[in-house]
Amino acid sequence: SVLVDGIAVRSCGLSAGDVAGEVTTIEGIGSSQELHPVQQAWVEHQVVQCGYCQSGQILTAVALLNENGSPSEAEIGEAFAENLCRCSTYVRIKKAVRAAARKVSS
Ligand code: FES
Repeated sequence: SVLVDGIAVRSCGLSAGDVAGEVTTIEGIGSSQELHPVQQAWVEHQVVQCGYCQSGQILTAVALLNENGSPSEAEIGEAFAENLCRCSTYVRIKKAVRAAARKVSS
């Protein structure tokens, strides 16, 4: 996934020529010196397994929290409904999203 104007979209199904808005990739949301709150939460909750899906998961979390700083469990589930993780990190993803929500709302 990437963010286009802050909205998470699947980069695998998107032609760069069709994008009119501002594109943000995983590299654009934080740095090794200053992680984004979502990245901090991912580290603290040891979300990553193989890592294959994680840039999309993190960008989905960023997009969700940009729209809703205090999402309900149902809203988190809905936001991630189409983000598959073969390593089944779903429980830790939800914990990290809740932790990141607390960070961004405080
Ligand atoms: Fe391996 Fe999600 S961490 S596919």
